[in-house]
Amino acid sequence: MQKLEQLYEGKAKKVFKTDNEDYLIVSYKDDATAFNGLKKGTIVGKGEINNLMSNKLFAYLEENGVKTHFVETIDSRNTVVKSVEIVPLEVIVRNVAAGSFSKRLGVEEGTIFDEPTTEFSYKNDELGDPLINDSFAIALKLATKEEIDQIREMALKVNELLKTYFLKANIKLIDFKLEFGRFHGEIILADEISPDTCRLWDKDTNEKLDKDRFRRDLGNVEGAYSEVRNRLGF
Ligand code: C5P
Repeated sequence: MQKLEQLYEGKAKKVFKTDNEDYLIVSYKDDATAFNGLKKGTIVGKGEINNLMSNKLFAYLEENGVKTHFVETIDSRNTVVKSVEIVPLEVIVRNVAAGSFSKRLGVEEGTIFDEPTTEFSYKNDELGDPLINDSFAIALKLATKEEIDQIREMALKVNELLKTYFLKANIKLIDFKLEFGRFHGEIILADEISPDTCRLWDKDTNEKLDKDRFRRDLGNVEGAYSEVRNRLGF
């Protein structure tokens, strides 16, 4: 497949056209941002880790019946994906209170939920990705009711599959963000699943092995990303 012109450069990835209109090439960068772009930095080696980890997880999800945009790994930073129309929703699933949930609702970080929570944010940088509910998403015509029901069901299935997967590596899946897209009329999982988009805590010590180390200036950011890579064996 031929890599053609760049279509888009995001905070952590570049997207290129290919000679097949159904496919794009995503190229992962080491650039890191937080707080809607207010904090900027570099996490050396992150692009490679996020690319390979996402691909490994997407392949595992596909094997377990979740349709994703993943097609094939080209090299450590470049991947062929299906060209989806992104649904402008950030879909967050939480198993344990942390981050914005703890801050907004005054719940101590680490509080375990009986059932996972799901929430939607409107993917819009100018508005700061505001939290919305199903009826807002429908009113804004971001997705249909059927699509939203399907997205929530898929997100919860991904949560169950990933929780099991990470536990085998002695990692607790605290929360994560997913994005979905439409491909030939069907909703499929898109974007990435990586330490940038998940909270991952060591099962025994609760040590943070994710982007919170960058967001909160906890140090050893690269070490945490490498630790996840070593534990998952990719
Ligand atoms: O900040 P908050 O607690 O809402 O984040 C919940 C989860 O979603 C975290 O795992 C975080 O890494 C992820 N997230 C993300 N991209 C965003 C917002 C949150 O990947 N824009």
